Amino acid sequence: MTEIVSLPITSWDQPISSEQQTLAIDALESGNVVLLPQLPFVVRDDERPLLESDVMQGIKNVSLSPSNGSFKGSKGSEAEQQQLQAMMMRFATATRTLANNLLSPYEHGLQQARASFRPVEIAGRPTSWRKDDTRLHVDNFPSSPTLGKRILRVFSNINPNDQPRVWRLGEPFESVAKRYLASVPKPMWGSSAVLNALGITKCPRSAYDHYMLRLHDSMKADLKYQAEVDQHEQLFPANTTWMVFTDQVSHAAMSGQFVLEQTFLLPVEFLRHPAQAPLRVLERLTGRGLV
Ligand code: SIN
Ligand code: FE
Repeated sequence: MTEIVSLPITSWDQPISSEQQTLAIDALESGNVVLLPQLPFVVRDDERPLLESDVMQGIKNVSLSPSNGSFKGSKGSEAEQQQLQAMMMRFATATRTLANNLLSPYEHGLQQARASFRPVEIAGRPTSWRKDDTRLHVDNFPSSPTLGKRILRVFSNINPNDQPRVWRLGEPFESVAKRYLASVPKPMWGSSAVLNALGITKCPRSAYDHYMLRLHDSMKADLKYQAEVDQHEQLFPANTTWMVFTDQVSHAAMSGQFVLEQTFLLPVEFLRHPAQAPLRVLERLTGRGLV
């Protein structure tokens, strides 16, 4: 079962002992969630109006690329957009500082990808089954193949009304893979070059990415699995932060509104226990190299 490992961290830039670093890394790589119940991302008073539903009405996901400043999906006045961008940049900087301190053995491997702001209530949001994150799944990016890199995500619940973010957590990655791998067709020869030439993917999709996408879809399409697999509900209270390898941990977001999220990518060479990485698990189960 996915465990929740809580650490008493109270600031984004505090130095962290090597014992705590090892504890966090071992927990994450074993498919657990690291919860920082005393670490809020503080929204400033002048930013509070951004968390009123009418400012961000109809917006699902605002994204910011901290490396080049690319900012997408926001609405509102010029001033509101600038304020949101600045708040997200502050979050991106905070999570990078935290990652460098808490996960310092990863420091030279962690690549900071997009940050997102998710202002919509999840419960009852209309969406297709494939995009429905209230169904248990493991993450991957259909148009941005990771080529085996890990997806590490840091979330802060900034809900102003004390509303928790409610997740379900499911079975270990290896169980997911063993359950569905036999029914996943092998990648079609040449298909990755075609997808890339058509601009559907940003680089050729590796066999690893092919299998990860199919696992994601198989889980979400299987309603019996969603109802019956071993799982538990997990609440992340307002003003807490948590981190998790979402490519490995089977998760679903059931309800909640207003979360900030930062994605990091990490090549498997930087892991302490690479045998637990989805890439290595899938290579073992399929008996071949997948990138
Ligand atoms: C997800 O990664 O499936 C959604 C997580 C969230 O928005 O809480
Ligand atoms: Fe997800």
